[in-house]
Amino acid sequence: MDLQLKGRAALVFGGSRGLGRAIAEELVREGVRVVIVARDGARLERVAAEIGAVALPGDLSQPGAGRKLVLAATGLLGQSPDILVTNTGGPPKGSFQETTPEAWAAGFQALWIAAVDAIQAALPAMQAQGWGRILAVTSVAAKEPQPGLVISNGLRAGLLGLVNTLAREVAGQGITVNALLPGYTNTDRMAELGVDNATMGPKIPAGRLGEPEEFAALAAFLASGRASYITGQAIAVDGGLLQSI
Ligand SMILES: NC(=O)c1ccc[n+]([C@@H]2O[C@H](COP(=O)([O-])OP(=O)(O)OC[C@H]3O[C@@H](n4cnc5c(N)ncnc54)[C@H](OP(=O)(O)O)[C@@H]3O)[C@@H](O)[C@H]2O)c1
Repeated sequence: MDLQLKGRAALVFGGSRGLGRAIAEELVREGVRVVIVARDGARLERVAAEIGAVALPGDLSQPGAGRKLVLAATGLLGQSPDILVTNTGGPPKGSFQETTPEAWAAGFQALWIAAVDAIQAALPAMQAQGWGRILAVTSVAAKEPQPGLVISNGLRAGLLGLVNTLAREVAGQGITVNALLPGYTNTDRMAELGVDNATMGPKIPAGRLGEPEEFAALAAFLASGRASYITGQAIAVDGGLLQSI
């Protein structure tokens, strides 16, 4: 299938490792010019060179970062991104009672405000050209809360409301907006949470963690010209983990 992605331009947040890197790599393979963002500039440069992307160091925990990064990426690409992938590191583990208001605020900035800022900055050019793709990387926690991840459980569900609302506002302008919900996937984040195949595999119907490439395949499809009638959706790549219908 020709995904009709050749010549498109994308901005991928959190693109130096894990899911974001896999998405960036897949888009480059499909002929997209890709800018990747992460904090660790040295690693970002190395990964960009490895996969054929352009590095843009940045920290999404800083107020205003989403908008600034879209503007900087526009300079690097010579155009505003056709495809925007909002993604960042996961928030810290914790129960409700252990979680401070400061931790909630930091999570809100990274998971919500940075995405909102970036979408608002990228949207006008997508509207002007009548084509755009917004992909929000969230989590299965958006649909079924996961143990010990109160910030993720609390914030990600609300993001689905944002995605669906925006999708309906811009559906007539050639722009699609979808949420991608990773299940347990083999990245540094899983190591950070102490999750591996031995501990989690038996709880997943597929019997194993997912691989980032399996997640990135969905992202590339949703970013493509072929997914023009899919919008406002929250789609999990989770080996059958979610039980809700
Ligand atoms: N992997 C899973 O199984 C899974 C499951 C459900 C949900 N998720 C969610 O999906 C997202 C991506 O997960 P992942 O597994 O790919 O995570 P990861 O392996 O930890 O990678 C995170 C990426 O985001 C970058 N990043 C982190 N904080 C940043 C910041 N403040 N500003 C800019 N870039 C930042 C990291 O680079 P730097 O550290 O250099 O900034 C890295 O490139 C996370 O929100 C995670 O919670 C993952």
